[in-house]
Amino acid sequence: MKILVTGAAGFIGAHLTEALLRKAGGVEITGLDSLDSCYDVNLKEYRLKRIAALAGEIDAGWRFIKGDITDASVVSDVFRQTSPDIVVNLAAQAGVRRSISDPEPYIGTNITGFYNILEACRHSYDGGRNGVRHLLYASSSSVYGENPAVPYRTSDRTDFPVSLYAATKKCDEILAYSYAGLYGIPSTGIRFFTVYGPAGRPDMAYFRFTDQLVKGRKINLYNYGKCVRDFTYIDDIVEGLMRVIPASPEWARGENGQKIPPYRLYNLGNGHPASLADFVKILQEELSAAGVLPEGYDIGERIEMLPMQSGDVTVSYSDISAFEADFGFRPETSLRTGLRRFAEWYKEYYFGKRI
Ligand SMILES: NC(=O)c1ccc[n+]([C@@H]2O[C@H](COP(=O)([O-])OP(=O)(O)OC[C@H]3O[C@@H](n4cnc5c(N)ncnc54)[C@H](O)[C@@H]3O)[C@@H](O)[C@H]2O)c1
Repeated sequence: MKILVTGAAGFIGAHLTEALLRKAGGVEITGLDSLDSCYDVNLKEYRLKRIAALAGEIDAGWRFIKGDITDASVVSDVFRQTSPDIVVNLAAQAGVRRSISDPEPYIGTNITGFYNILEACRHSYDGGRNGVRHLLYASSSSVYGENPAVPYRTSDRTDFPVSLYAATKKCDEILAYSYAGLYGIPSTGIRFFTVYGPAGRPDMAYFRFTDQLVKGRKINLYNYGKCVRDFTYIDDIVEGLMRVIPASPEWARGENGQKIPPYRLYNLGNGHPASLADFVKILQEELSAAGVLPEGYDIGERIEMLPMQSGDVTVSYSDISAFEADFGFRPETSLRTGLRRFAEWYKEYYFGKRI
């Protein structure tokens, strides 16, 4: 089995690659990533070093290719060199805020880049005997916009994105559907809900808040801390992906006999949302317990309450029942446990040599 993971130096991609190396014997994994500089490249290199060390330790098949998925020739060369059976597309410009101020790279990577992946799948696909048997790709809870009904179901309307990032993720779902219907490329899209954990993304709130608090700065809580997020721990996301990877969707027949393309879409979120204010309180307690912040740290003094900012949604809350029914799994890691692991990792990564 040959698996191509795009965005392998990224947060989710690196954790998934480690899990694949550990669990899937006899698998050859190729990681493709441009090592984009939208956040600290050292962190991406650290993740790649961890993967390489693990692959060396267990003598597993791993190779990394530095390349940009917006370049169609790069993508087709990688497919030619590696002939993947499974493709997991996690490469993206991720994050809502920057998509508003700097939309172009989002259109490039998330839409053109994904189109290049679909085209490469199409040219390698021959009905399932050879070529890509399953394309998994990352979508996002942001496609729900300001959805009035909670929890969010994949049958809810997602035509009203409040950020360009969300619009690009919705485009990916539609493109994947058309490739499943036209060319039979079996694909599964996963809408992730606010993923957090060790070696995470420094631009995400929990990581950014930690950096700011460590530097003695104030943190901004928009919508006066009342936004609610379905925070999902990285190991739960990885476990979910591991279950989806072998389960390639097939053509089916609808009630009226019409052909249904090999295309599926799921939420993957914790299903127990928390307000940002509660989340920050637990974060501070776990940072103090890990020794990143002093014991008894008064976070109240450090919080700046601000109105809602554009591009944000007030609530994210996943209905995980379809995922659970099909894959027998639902995320279980509590916010406290997940933030504890993040705090311990943060201490080790940033202060390991000093403490
Ligand atoms: N982390 C979350 O909370 C979350 C939530 C919803 C959806 N997602 C989606 O999950 C996927 C993974 O997210 P993540 O949090 O690991 O983000 P990440 O930024 O850590 O990882 C994405 C990786 O893609 C790489 N990349 C960017 N542009 C590229 C290009 N043109 N060619 C090749 N590589 C490129 C980056 O260098 C990075 O390493 C993304 O598609 C993201 O939109 C993440």
